[in-house]
Amino acid sequence: MTNLRMDGGVAGLPDDPSSWPVPYCKQFVSQNAMKYVTSAVQNSSASTYRERSQAQLASLVNREVLLTPSCSAALEMAAILTEVSAGDEVIVPSFTFATTASAFALFGATIVFVDSDPMTLNIDPSQVVAAISPRTKVIVVVHYAGIACDMDSLLALAETRGIVVVEDCAHALLATYKGRQLGSFGHLAAFSFHSTKNISCVEGGALCVRRDCKALWPRARVIWDKGTNRQDFIEGKSDKYVWVDRGSSFALSEVSAALLLAQLEAGQEITAKRRMAWGLYHEQLEACEMRGWLRRPVVPALSEHNAHIYYILFPNAQVCQAVLSQLRSQGVEANRHYSPLHSSPAGQRFGHPHGTCAVSEHIAEVILRLPLWPDIPSRTVGDITQSIASALNAIYGSVLAQPKLSSNM
Ligand SMILES: Cc1ncc(COP(=O)(O)O)c(C=O)c1O
Repeated sequence: MTNLRMDGGVAGLPDDPSSWPVPYCKQFVSQNAMKYVTSAVQNSSASTYRERSQAQLASLVNREVLLTPSCSAALEMAAILTEVSAGDEVIVPSFTFATTASAFALFGATIVFVDSDPMTLNIDPSQVVAAISPRTKVIVVVHYAGIACDMDSLLALAETRGIVVVEDCAHALLATYKGRQLGSFGHLAAFSFHSTKNISCVEGGALCVRRDCKALWPRARVIWDKGTNRQDFIEGKSDKYVWVDRGSSFALSEVSAALLLAQLEAGQEITAKRRMAWGLYHEQLEACEMRGWLRRPVVPALSEHNAHIYYILFPNAQVCQAVLSQLRSQGVEANRHYSPLHSSPAGQRFGHPHGTCAVSEHIAEVILRLPLWPDIPSRTVGDITQSIASALNAIYGSVLAQPKLSSNM
């Protein structure tokens, strides 16, 4: 499958070995990163950077914000806040990361997995409505690849039934729906600042709480600070602090928050650069899509994506594997993505699918994510798309009848 040239080089990749192997992502280190981190280390008892980062996020999403060590931790806080327990059901897409579901299973809830919309790969509102039962307490939506879910439909069906909506925004910082930031729609939202994410402090997260949910915010502060009312004590509202509720050590360290603040300050620059690379992939892979060799991401008119992932979907698992093998053999770190949760060992133990989740199973077999970071050279993007085209041409070029993409792609 690899296109070896006579001179031993690989067709479609540069001769300059310094530009490859190509990693999946590279950490963007913003201008102020080291300055802020050094200052946080020197003043380790302050919480200035945490407060500044929280304030920056809060004004972006118009929510109260608490920084956490990860998105998974923020989702666990959401599970405590929504008071899910045995007998409650939580609706979650099957095509997502384990902790979207495990955060709620941890507190005894039964996870009901639903299928995704084949166009956007996001949770399908028609599947959600069919999966709702009198025991449904929470719906968790995931904006896959930073492309918004159909929030109008999801919020409407949750609101009429008094169900809490949690946005898993692990992919979604600085992406919008109808001009509004993702993370500003659900009662609660959780962001990730893991090193694979657009804005990163290596490991980190945030919980966002809707301001009009008055009961949630005071409890969130307690849960975040080890189940104590220490935040009230710090603000002089209490003369001592005591254990008052469930909680844990959910606060992000000041040093991580310092790095995060610097990265957040560069957020627009990072996103713009990623969008350029995303756009290049999209443009250069159009011809392959026209031939029916693959399908590119679909961004609905109402959403503005943040270029978190550039993915492609192939007609079947064999073609996907062949292209992946070729890219890997050339040192290009393309990646598949989630295994559907409904058929995972823990998914079967702590939940059940509603319906077949056939779209999720299909996506898992045919998806490939391509390398993407803010300063990825255009030439590298060109080399990768050329390599994909040449692999597909080798598979399909001689076939008279072109493959048809299945209807659920
Ligand atoms: C959709 C989704 N939710 C949650 C997470 C967990 O994020 P973190 O690593 O910050 O806990 C991930 C991780 O990639 C994810 O993809």
